[in-house]
Amino acid sequence: MKEVVLVDGVRTPNGRAHAEKGWFRKRMPDELLVACYHALFARNPQVKPEMVEAVYVGTANQGGVTNDMGRLAWLAAGLPESVAANSICQQCPSGMSAIEHAARAIMCGEGDIYVVGGVEDMEKMPKGMYIPKAVADKYGEWDLQMGPTAEKVAALWNVSVEDMNLFAYWSNVRAAEATKAGKFKHEIVPVEGHDEAGNPIIVDRDQWVRDEVSMEAMAKMKPAFKPDGVITAAMSSPLTAGACALILMSREKADELGCSYHIKYRGGAMAGNDPTIMGVGPIEAVRKLLARTGVTMDEIDVVELNEAFASQSLVVIRELGLGYNAPFEKVNLWGGALALGHPLGESGARIVITLNNIMKYEKPDAKYGLATLCGGFGNANATLWERVN
Ligand SMILES: CC(C)(COP(=O)(O)OP(=O)(O)OC[C@H]1O[C@@H](n2cnc3c(N)ncnc32)[C@H](O)[C@@H]1OP(=O)(O)O)[C@@H](O)C(=O)NCCC(=O)NCCS
Repeated sequence: MKEVVLVDGVRTPNGRAHAEKGWFRKRMPDELLVACYHALFARNPQVKPEMVEAVYVGTANQGGVTNDMGRLAWLAAGLPESVAANSICQQCPSGMSAIEHAARAIMCGEGDIYVVGGVEDMEKMPKGMYIPKAVADKYGEWDLQMGPTAEKVAALWNVSVEDMNLFAYWSNVRAAEATKAGKFKHEIVPVEGHDEAGNPIIVDRDQWVRDEVSMEAMAKMKPAFKPDGVITAAMSSPLTAGACALILMSREKADELGCSYHIKYRGGAMAGNDPTIMGVGPIEAVRKLLARTGVTMDEIDVVELNEAFASQSLVVIRELGLGYNAPFEKVNLWGGALALGHPLGESGARIVITLNNIMKYEKPDAKYGLATLCGGFGNANATLWERVN
């Protein structure tokens, strides 16, 4: 089978998905994806758009806005109509699933160059979800909602409020430090938006990242999902808008075109679990992936775990033996979704971009990197990456 390398990845900043305060409130999600497509080809001039075999784009709930975001954004970007696109919906892991689809296609020789990515604007997606009656009857409509799953995980695994606030604190601190140090400049594409007063601005940083964060203030926050609950907004990934796009290529094609790359795809795994504790899904996905690839957790130097909620993140980290309390040595070194934001279908691809940049700039000796995330209704994914340069 062919080897698959990650040639490049870009993302928009994450905007707050809010009708009055969001910097991207006047932009449509496809426009964010168009900005990524354009930046990707501008940064990689040896890759001509017509060379792309196909496009895979993850998007969890954007179907209610337009039907095929990957394809329509491709056409809106003025890119060749001969390149087909597939918009993939797998809730939060949609963007990672897009990567896995393309990687498998390259490995089995269907094509050499794929554009993949993800996009979501949670302010513009339809509110409320249709849940089949059989599913609602079995699991309970309330228990299937994301916030309640985070509550249930905290209760079942006995995760304390103090530990969740500490986890949120470190996510914020690391995200603020990485932002201040310009670490995201390798991946962020500046995009036009509007400030809260309505003035046009160039957005070049993640809107949710706070310069200051206080454990004291977080400890005073009210539960977000039920009056007697423990999960606050600080312990939850916030509503976000953003897009990202990457180029995956067979290693031989990358060498032929003179593209540089640092990591190759070693494999992916999906695992399903009880939807009412969907957040712990990565435990099984990662275990499957490690068993399949023969790589042990000790050999992995960098982990990007999407922080849907502090409770599920802590349980996954603890169960996988990556530590007990934040700050974690290997996990989310530039902060996570609690601080950066989580545009559902985008995040699974975004964390692979960040993983690549951490392995390139921060941990140049790291051999293996792992990216994993949970998904609504009990769908989790994990991908393993190995340094080759
Ligand atoms: C938790 C949730 C309900 C909160 O939504 P909300 O009530 O609209 O609250 P916001 O996110 O706007 O945050 C409320 C306030 O708390 C503040 N806040 C959040 N985290 C904070 C922190 N760590 N420190 C200080 N303030 C914080 C926000 O800045 C905001 O204040 P502002 O409006 O003055 O800026 C919402 O973010 C949510 O549903 N998150 C989960 C999304 C989800 O399910 N994703 C999929 C996961 S699988």
